[in-house]
Formats: sequence, C-alpha cells, structure tokens
Amino acid sequence: MEIPVKKLRNGFAMPAYGFGTWQMGGRERRDTENDDEADIAAMRAAMDRGVTAFDTAEIYAEGYSETLLGKAIAGRDRARLLISSKASAAHMRYDDILAACEASLARVGTEYFDLYLLHRHVPDVPLQESMRALDTLVARGLVRAIGVCNFSTASLAEARAKASNPIVYNQVHYNLEFRECEADGLLRYCEDNDVLLAAWRPVQKGLILEDPPKIVYDLAEKYGKSYAQIALNWLVSQRNVVTLSKTRHVGHLEENLGALGWTMDAEDIELLRSGYPDRRFVSDVVPLG
Ligand SMILES: NC(=O)c1ccc[n+]([C@@H]2O[C@H](COP(=O)([O-])OP(=O)(O)OC[C@H]3O[C@@H](n4cnc5c(N)ncnc54)[C@H](OP(=O)(O)O)[C@@H]3O)[C@@H](O)[C@H]2O)c1
Repeated sequence: MEIPVKKLRNGFAMPAYGFGTWQMGGRERRDTENDDEADIAAMRAAMDRGVTAFDTAEIYAEGYSETLLGKAIAGRDRARLLISSKASAAHMRYDDILAACEASLARVGTEYFDLYLLHRHVPDVPLQESMRALDTLVARGLVRAIGVCNFSTASLAEARAKASNPIVYNQVHYNLEFRECEADGLLRYCEDNDVLLAAWRPVQKGLILEDPPKIVYDLAEKYGKSYAQIALNWLVSQRNVVTLSKTRHVGHLEENLGALGWTMDAEDIELLRSGYPDRRFVSDVVPLG
C-alpha cells in the first residue's frame, strides 16, 4: 500500500507510519538467542507491504538492531527508504556524535541517514555543542535531516535556536493513554513551529488494546476497525503527528497498516482526545527504547 505522507512547510516529508526496531536483536543488550531471521523477515514483510520508514538507534541491542536493519534492506532501493538512527545519551559531545553516526552508518551499511536524532536531552552537555555536531553531519552529507527524541518544549525550542538546520522531528511517548505532550504544550508547539511529533509506543506494546474503554470499543464498532486501528488512526489523524510501531507478526503489521488511508470524523478525534479515561503522564519515567 501507499503509506500517506506528512509534509512540513520546510519541505521535510515522511510517511505517517514507520517501523521501529526496539527489541529487534535484543533490548539494551544484544540477545544471542534472538531469532534474527524472524526480525529480518518482519522488516522485509513491512517493506513488501509499502513501509519505507525504519527507525533504529545505536543503543538498541548494542547496535545489533542496526545490523539487522542493514541485512533487511540489503538489495532494496535505498532511495525509497527513510532511515533514522539516534546518538545515545552517552554520546552528546561533538566528537562523540560524529563518531556515533559514522559507526551507525557502517552497521546499517548505508552512506547516509535520512534523519539523525539525539536520543534524549542531557543537561550537562550544552545543546549548542550537540547541534553543531548535527549540522556538521548534514554539511558532510552523512545526514539529510536532523531531529531529537524525548525533548520538552523548552529543550526543543533551545535546540531549534542553536541548530542551523531545521529540527524537523521530536520523537516522544504518545498514545491514547500517555498524553504528556498534550498537557505540557509540546504537541501544540510542534504544530505551530513546523516540527513533526513522532509518537513512539503507539499501542503501548499492545497493552492498551486489552480490554479498552467503552469509547474505543464504540468507535471500533462504528468504523468497523480494530482497537489498534482506532489507536493508530487517532494519532496520525492529527496534523503534525506521525507514528512508529514495532511488530514481528505479519498479522499485527497488516492490522496496523489498516489504520491508514481513512479518517475518523473530527468529533470522534476530539472525543478520544478529551474523553479517553485514565490518561497518564510519563515525566518521571526514563524511557526504554
Ligand atoms: N526515542 C525513544 O526514546 C523511543 C522509545 C521507545 C520506542 N522508540 C521507537 O519507537 C518504536 C515504536 O515503539 P514500540 O516498539 O515500543 O511501540 P509499540 O508498537 O507500541 O510496541 C511494540 C509491541 O507492541 C506489539 N504490537 C504491535 N502492533 C500490535 C498490534 N496490532 N496488536 C497487538 N500487539 C501489537 C508488538 O508485538 P509483536 O511483535 O508480537 O507484534 C511489540 O511487542 C520503537 O520500536 C523504537 O523504534 C523510541
């Protein structure tokens, strides 16, 4: 299928749905018992069904997720793919970011990243220094666009002020249940300032699909869609929001892709925004992934 694309005013564009690689090849550590072929097959199944955006990070399975992604994309048309990776919190210094990016490129086996991100804000390294490194990567042609993850509105504003290139993307925990970015103004800030907000953990690892509240049940009935499709469609129905999910199962993948290409009525989007019960915040949690 053709995945709908979100385009910023500054020209940066990316598919509304991408494939995440957290838990592929391991978690924080590489898992030598991992079924690598299953992970590679899952990524190829996604490409076969039109997924072009893939998200990884140097810390995923100690870089091994990147290696698996490299194996999955081997032989594919690189120009059609949008690959993002991230410098870890331990690598926010100028030289460390350059070295981290080059190591990630080597593991993925690509000459450039479409998007390169800071994995999180580290207060003891001046953002000016990290942004200078991202600008250098763009100048050297190793990176096409730059962004951040888990940045607050204030840190994102500072990053935008310090970088020469536009910050096109902030990847944060956002789903029907976790609404921090609405409450703290980040979502509005991204809309107002031409930044895509990428929602990670969109189905809360499947947990929000188990016994969902009546409001989701009713909308699933109304649209003839599954709970996952309602959860994902709600995210990408919002103007500046894209999302990324990880799945090893073709059934889940196809279900998730069925969340795209249709729109919920505006009042239902708003109903889910304001009427979903038990909304939670994640400010005190150090995110995994
Ligand atoms: N920047 C950050 O700090 C950060 C943090 C976390 C994640 N991320 C990125 O965001 C991506 C997405 O996050 P995530 O992987 O945690 O999100 P997620 O898609 O909400 O969770 C993945 C889990 O949900 C299950 N799942 C997916 N679709 C499903 C469906 N339709 N029905 C039931 N279960 C389903 C998958 O199981 P199966 O494999 O069994 O299908 C998998 O275990 C990550 O892979 C990573 O690339 C970034």
